[in-house]
Amino acid sequence: MVVAAIAEAGSAAWMYGDPENHALQHAIAAHHGVDPANIMVGEGIDGLFGYVVRMFVEPGDSVVTSQGAYPTFNYHVVGYDGQLVTVPYCNDREDGDALLAAAAECQAKLIYLANPDNPMGTWWGAEKVDDIIAGVPAGTLLVLDEAYGEFAEPGTLPEIDVSSDRVLRFRTFSKAYGLAGIRLGYVVGNADLVAEFNKVRNHFGVGRVVQAAGLAALADQSHLAWVIDQVKAARRRIVEIASDNGLTTVDSATNFVAVDCGRDGDFATRVLNNLVERGIFVRMPGVSPLNRCIRITAGLDHELDAFAAALPLSLADAN
Ligand SMILES: Cc1ncc(COP(=O)(O)O)c(C=O)c1O
Repeated sequence: MVVAAIAEAGSAAWMYGDPENHALQHAIAAHHGVDPANIMVGEGIDGLFGYVVRMFVEPGDSVVTSQGAYPTFNYHVVGYDGQLVTVPYCNDREDGDALLAAAAECQAKLIYLANPDNPMGTWWGAEKVDDIIAGVPAGTLLVLDEAYGEFAEPGTLPEIDVSSDRVLRFRTFSKAYGLAGIRLGYVVGNADLVAEFNKVRNHFGVGRVVQAAGLAALADQSHLAWVIDQVKAARRRIVEIASDNGLTTVDSATNFVAVDCGRDGDFATRVLNNLVERGIFVRMPGVSPLNRCIRITAGLDHELDAFAAALPLSLADAN
């Protein structure tokens, strides 16, 4: 459905798209049971991060995130001359309480939290996330990145509360909807906060073809459910492959699994490089102790077959 919608919109691409993203904004609002004024559509979460940092961070302002968390948010903070303050992960999860404490101490403008998280795939349940939202200090806004939200089990994402001016939630079509190349995401939140994006956003940033693709993707929820099932099956397979090689894994609510190589970052890097030499593209967290793991994407069956064949060889070579 999406590919057909892209083809159809492609022949009309000589026209600008709707700068208000009206149809898509309304469809996303209906999908989440909120008012269209609670939705802002943008060029993927990464693009929307640029806007939110520009809106809230002036040179010298502090922004709190986790050491080793998804880095693109940080690039925008640095780009607008904000001061990054980082707190370590705790047991492979982003540490909400430590993030709040650091934000209170440095009077942060923004706190970044991904739930579920990249690169570890870990998550907090809705109750804990609601506690974190309630604990956001006055003058601070929580940037809640739910890029992997569709993969999480029910009870992971909190109910949407658009009355709160402490949090903006970021969602994307790049992951479970499978449209990373399209560049489409959105913010859900308080209408006054959401309206602020209009001051800074690129008004034609989400093109005509992208809007058509998003509408078709949203309308095809059975495809989304199928993808989520496939990803869960692939995660189980990755756990099996790791265990066949004497390795443990970190429980994941995303479309990848962090495989613990059982030693330090140097060893995991050697395993990763060896896999890459064998044609298996793998990434890994950048900081200790997360970097004892390599991050394996929930690939297709033939891709995981190739990983299963390569992993024992790479482990032996790395040893
Ligand atoms: C936690 C997290 N947030 C955001 C993104 C980027 O999302 P988008 O493609 O919508 O910019 C990613 C992509 O890897 C991610 O892992």
